[in-house]
Amino acid sequence: LERTFIAIKPDGVQRGLISDIIARFEKKGYKLVAIKLVHPTKDFAEKHYDDLKGRPFFNGLTDFLSSGPVVAMVPPPPPSQSMSNHTADPQVWEGQGVIKYGRKFIGATAPLASEPGTIRGDFAISVGRNIIHGSDGPETAKDEIALWFKPEEILSYKKETDKWLYE
Ligand code: GTP
Ligand code: MG
Repeated sequence: LERTFIAIKPDGVQRGLISDIIARFEKKGYKLVAIKLVHPTKDFAEKHYDDLKGRPFFNGLTDFLSSGPVVAMVPPPPPSQSMSNHTADPQVWEGQGVIKYGRKFIGATAPLASEPGTIRGDFAISVGRNIIHGSDGPETAKDEIALWFKPEEILSYKKETDKWLYE
């Protein structure tokens, strides 16, 4: 089942954007399966952005991510096609795309290059204060979910609205 990892960064929390950001994923129809407020240590922030080690902004970026509480979330897509077609190949809806769509929803890394209507496009200005993080692919999503959450913190449940979202 495809899942992505989303975090509202310390600037998003400080600026009171938690509800606006969660509302976008919720209203789109994605289901939240894990959420918590955490204040990451510098060490933890370095692990999270491990792939950017060596970049000139790495120290500032990890100082920033560890500067205050972060809202960590895992919203996967609801079951979708399997609701109406029980013989559907799970692969079909695994590829359905909360990772890619989540990134589209978030917008470009630089908020001024993000389209209006995207989260960064609507709420942010600077690249170093872009309020939200989203996994950039299936592998990173898996690693990030495992870094931020214990398996028992990720819930599985049915939503009555699923049948109104998927034909
Ligand atoms: P995340 O969702 O946070 O991972 O952002 P991203 O995937 O859009 O970008 P990337 O993973 O390449 O970079 C991670 C974060 O580092 C970005 O969100 C920015 O805050 C920061 N960053 C990336 N490039 C730059 C840069 O050129 N300058 C500065 N100051 N920060 C950067
Ligand atoms: Mg990234």
